Amino acid sequence: MAIEASRESAPARIRLGMVGGGKDAFIGAVHRIAARLDGEFELVAGALSSTPDKARESGRLLGLAEDRIYDNFRTMAAREKRLRNGIEAVAIVTPNHVHYEAAREFLKRGIHVICDKPLTSTLADAKRLAALAEKSDALFILTHNYTGYPMVRQAREMVAAGELGELRLVQVEYAQDWLTEPLERTGAKQAEWRTDPARSGAGGAIGDIGTHAFNLATFVTGLTLESLSADLDSFVEGRRLDDNAHVLLRFSGGAKGMLWASQVAPGNENGLRLRVYGTRGGLEWSQEEPDRLWFTPFGKPKQLLTRGGAGAGAAARRVTRTPAGHPEGYLEGFANIYAEAARAILARREGRPVPRDVVFPTIADGVAGVAFVEACVRSSKRNAAWVTL
Ligand SMILES: NC(=O)c1ccc[n+]([C@@H]2O[C@H](COP(=O)([O-])OP(=O)(O)OC[C@H]3O[C@@H](n4cnc5c(N)ncnc54)[C@H](O)[C@@H]3O)[C@@H](O)[C@H]2O)c1
Repeated sequence: MAIEASRESAPARIRLGMVGGGKDAFIGAVHRIAARLDGEFELVAGALSSTPDKARESGRLLGLAEDRIYDNFRTMAAREKRLRNGIEAVAIVTPNHVHYEAAREFLKRGIHVICDKPLTSTLADAKRLAALAEKSDALFILTHNYTGYPMVRQAREMVAAGELGELRLVQVEYAQDWLTEPLERTGAKQAEWRTDPARSGAGGAIGDIGTHAFNLATFVTGLTLESLSADLDSFVEGRRLDDNAHVLLRFSGGAKGMLWASQVAPGNENGLRLRVYGTRGGLEWSQEEPDRLWFTPFGKPKQLLTRGGAGAGAAARRVTRTPAGHPEGYLEGFANIYAEAARAILARREGRPVPRDVVFPTIADGVAGVAFVEACVRSSKRNAAWVTL
């Protein structure tokens, strides 16, 4: 892989801690795989669950040393900071409402934070955290993992190079079906907290997957959202947060967009899809076929660009692991965020500036995501009125 090959020698592994991601949790396990894939991180500590017994059991299952398994993240942050070989970075993979408190504990001690999205459950917390990150020496990496896919990097590079001309249209959608029925009333943990405003935040589907769609669209296009009009629904009776969102977007510079986020669209699994059109051509990419990118130059035949194939440029190549035709997917894309984080963290460890080609979503993207969610909710409450960001 290009990222690995660019390292001159093997530095000591980055000592990583984890908050959340205990037994039966979803994304923590993905983070652990992503962190291991290139061998740059070593998980050495964890406060893995909100339940102390489960935290201990989960730590043991992962082979953590007994004295590095913690009941809560506050004790973990304080003690790890004091240890000679304490953690250098922490992954935060709890439900949304815990992100702020947990990230704060580590940031204020100069420990790098790798946090899952959305950044926080309220905009006020997001802004407070950004202010703290500004003052801290620690890096903040937000795992909008879809930005790690090689062909997403390719799309971004092509837009920046002007291959689409002036951008006019952005169509982005993230459709799922797993909340078509009231799963949250069956004891399914992941559905329960995602539909609870106290733990999820003001957004349901718009916060959970709409933020990924929004981040992907702005990452690829480089456009800034100026205003939006959102129509949010909770189709499942009694559900307290939206499970479907239709949003019209106006970007600065005049480009227009539409974003659809749904968790009640039967037949859709992780249907994240982006289409971007400019004066000279378009691009189409779908998460379920991530190695392929359609380029549609106006007036010419469509071109299928593939990861590792002839049309792939430098931005895609540096995060490509296997030859064309040997599929890469969700885990590799996620691992690319960790590989980028590792390059930045190692640079900091060695007192070097972070290399210019390192790309990962930051806390500013996180604040933008939460601001987007809050604006959607505000707009929808006023009958889809246009609101500015
Ligand atoms: N990037 C992605 O593609 C992606 C995918 C899924 C989830 N996520 C995000 O990851 C986060 C977790 O989602 P999930 O689906 O894994 O949830 P989950 O319910 O499966 O897991 C959450 C874990 O956090 C633990 N936890 C809760 N409070 C805690 C506390 N105070 N201290 C320590 N641990 C605590 C729980 O015990 C559990 O182990 C959410 O913010 C979600 O939005 C991101």
